[in-house]
Amino acid sequence: MATPLDIMKYGDKILRGKSEKVLEFGPELGPLFRRMWETLIEARGVGLAAPQIGVPKQIAVVDPEPEDEKKLIKMVNPRIVASSKETDSLEEGCLSIPGVRGEVARAANITVVYQDESGSEHKLYAEGFLARIIQHEIDHLNGVLFIDRLSFAKRALIKGKLKELAERDKEK
Ligand code: NI
Repeated sequence: MATPLDIMKYGDKILRGKSEKVLEFGPELGPLFRRMWETLIEARGVGLAAPQIGVPKQIAVVDPEPEDEKKLIKMVNPRIVASSKETDSLEEGCLSIPGVRGEVARAANITVVYQDESGSEHKLYAEGFLARIIQHEIDHLNGVLFIDRLSFAKRALIKGKLKELAERDKEK
């Protein structure tokens, strides 16, 4: 396994930008997906978006059953085309915001359209945990973090922790 990539932490501007749409499906996408998967495994996460590794492109991986590369969902230019009015609330965390968790309400089920590494389009209906991860990763591609979706009271509680994270990042 190659060295895992560094995961950008809260405070890094790239996490707040809007990622660029992928227009060319070249051979570099395969290795990028592989390294994202390796980084995800190393970090014991379930999803990772390209801006989190410093690549501001609309690319994300989702792996609700970790450590099986074949089951990894590799998404290029994903977009949600339908989502349920019904929502679920569940605690979330993010590899870019270590030590912070909080309950987020999201659509209980969604339909997402995305391209694979060769540019072919796929449509996926997802519910439950999978739907949640996909929504979380697509948020990343729009510069949105799960903390933006927390209640006002919860945001007030984690304010100090976030400040600490952002300052730690600046020191590097
Ligand atoms: Ni995240």
